[in-house]
Formats: sequence, C-alpha cells, structure tokens
Amino acid sequence: MLPSGEQPVELHAPYFAGKEWHYVKECLDTGWVSSAGAFVEQFEQQLADFTGMRYAVAVVNGSAALHAALLVAGVESQDEVIIPALTFVATANAVHYCGAVPHLADSCERTLGLDPGKLRRHLQSIAVLRDGACFNGLTGRRIRAAVPMHTLGHPARLDELAEVCADYRLEMVEDAAEALGSWYKGRHIGSWGCLAAFSFNGNKIMTAGGGGAIVTNSEPLARAVRHLTTTAKVPHRWRFVHDAVGYNYRLPNLNAALALAQLEQMPMMLDCKRRLARAYQRAFEQAEGVQCYSEPPQCRSNYWLNALVLEEQHQGELEAVLELAHQEGIRARPLWTPLHQLPMLRDAPRMELATSESLAKRVINIPSSAFLIGATRREAWNS
Ligand SMILES: Cc1ncc(COP(=O)(O)O)c(C=O)c1O
Repeated sequence: MLPSGEQPVELHAPYFAGKEWHYVKECLDTGWVSSAGAFVEQFEQQLADFTGMRYAVAVVNGSAALHAALLVAGVESQDEVIIPALTFVATANAVHYCGAVPHLADSCERTLGLDPGKLRRHLQSIAVLRDGACFNGLTGRRIRAAVPMHTLGHPARLDELAEVCADYRLEMVEDAAEALGSWYKGRHIGSWGCLAAFSFNGNKIMTAGGGGAIVTNSEPLARAVRHLTTTAKVPHRWRFVHDAVGYNYRLPNLNAALALAQLEQMPMMLDCKRRLARAYQRAFEQAEGVQCYSEPPQCRSNYWLNALVLEEQHQGELEAVLELAHQEGIRARPLWTPLHQLPMLRDAPRMELATSESLAKRVINIPSSAFLIGATRREAWNS
C-alpha cells in the first residue's frame, strides 16, 4: 500500500518547463483568448516546420482532426474505412462521425501497428476493384481509406502500408495522435498518407490542454481542411456566407499559446523520453517472462508511453500485475479493449484479429512522464 501522503505515479502528466505561463498570460492580457489570435498561426507554422510538412491546421482535439481529415480524404456515408482493431476508440469514432463503417484489421507484434502483410492478404480475399475504386465483395460497400495508427508513439510500417493502399486505391490517413516527435525511415510520421491527425490532449507528449492538428503536403487539401474546420465560412469582412455544412473545430488562441510553448520544448521532452525508455529497458533486461518494448527497426520513436510485454505463457497474469502496481501507487494500465469486443463494433467487418487479441492481454503501459527522468535537467532547462 502507498504510505499516507505519498502521491501515486501517474501514467503520463504534462511537463510545463518553458514559456507556458508567459504565452497564456499574453492571451489574457490582450483579450485574444478565442478563435482568432496570433498564437494559432504561429503554432501552425512551427508545427509544420517541426514535422517537415508544408501545412498544419490546428483544431480543437485529435478526434476532430481525424474526422475532418477523413472527410477531406473523400470518406462518405456508408463507405468502409480500415482501422486497427487495437487502437483508442477515437479512431473508430471519427469514422462513425462520417457516417462510415470501421473495418477492423490486425496489428503486428513488432510495431503494434497495422500489419501490411495481413492487410494485403485480407484485401486479396475480399476486395473487388471496379471503376478505380475498391469494394468489399462481402458487404458491397466501397472501402475508401485506411488509417494506420502509431501505437504509443511507435511508427507503423508506413511504406508497406502506403503500397497496399496504392494497390487497392485507398486513401491513407495517419492517426498520428500519439506520435508527434516520431520518425520513420528518417522522415517525421504524417507524410506517407494524404493527411495525418495529431492530438494535444493532456495525456500526450505535448499538450494544448485540449487540441489537435491536421498536417498535409497538399495545398488543396490544406485549404479544404481549413475551410471545413472553420464553419465553411466564405471569407468576407462582415458577411456570413457558408457554402457547406462546416464544423466549429478551430483551436482557440488560448490553447494555441500553451501548444506553442510546449512545441518549443519538444526537443527537450524527446530527450527525456528516450532516456527514460533506456532506463526502463536496462531495468527489465534480466527480467524473466517480460520484455520492455523498444522502437521498431528504422524508426525513431517518441516513446510517448513505455510498455512492458508479457510473454504468452504469462498473459493470464496481466490483471494481477496491474493490481499490484496500483497498490504500490503506480498507475500502470493495459492497452485498449480490442474494438470488435466493444458493443457498437461487435458486427463491424473485420479480418482475423489474433495478434490484437493477444497483445491486449500482454501489454502494460508504465509511467512515462517526461519529468520522471532527471529533475536536475528539468531545473537546468528552467534556468
Ligand atoms: C490513437 C488515438 N486517436 C485519436 C485520439 C483522439 O484525440 P483527442 O483525445 O485529442 O480527441 C487519441 C487520443 O486521445 C488517440 O490516442
């Protein structure tokens, strides 16, 4: 049991070591707290620079970012969209917001993300290519897009997934909610598909309080995203003319101020994250029955959340390990319930999902806040 007065170690908490107070105060002092203000544009520009993308559009959260990205990628009502079964429910929700149907695919053990080989074999068995589009031969619905998700910050096998998508005429939209600061084969994630969505929720590597963004290298797509996420208002100094059903998804300046200060801290936070990951890896090197997860080959991961992976013969012990950790004040947690086991997705079209089911029984996330490693460094950064 935790001695009285001792604080539990959270799974992930924000780290404010830069100009957060200063920028937020500037919003309050000037009154620019809402949907207009200089911080939004500054943040968008710096996010584009950081990720090496041409355009970034800031929105209210990662779910809204995914929703807008899917709509702009051409997902329509009754289309199917391939997503991993092993992801946070927001990935599926965004598909549902479009009136479309999530089609669940399996992940691979090494990357924890969509398995390109399995996806190709699945499409070979069910897909029908007709008039330049892909249809599910079993349901008759068009399969419009695929959404790889970079689990816990570790990049999925993007080049192979992009090839599968090209062969089957699928748009690829990356759910990069967990992966700001992760690189795949030397390129920041987010540029293998036509669009990618980030989240800046309070539990992510950097936070805007709540926030998200869409990145793309395409000017027309960036313009379409910006239009759709700002109520589809036709620019005019005083007239209210809207040419489509749009969304009030613009990130407020107050949140953008926090986001900008956090983005400036990303190099420092990434350094902390990688040092923490190495410390965990060393600590579990000799442990039996469990491994500390490390980034896939040719990737540089942000190590958003560190993870322990139980060997298969120990999968029945997950609950006991979590119980023990919580008793000790360590807020460890499992991965998500695979989506086909949730009531609203029980009947979703899917492939065989053995790896997702197995990983869900074996992966344990452990505390990963950037400030857990090296208080001295935290102080050094402040000075
Ligand atoms: C994989 C994934 N997708 C989407 C989201 C949605 O982001 P938000 O919570 O900002 O809506 C999250 C995080 O919460 C996530 O982890």
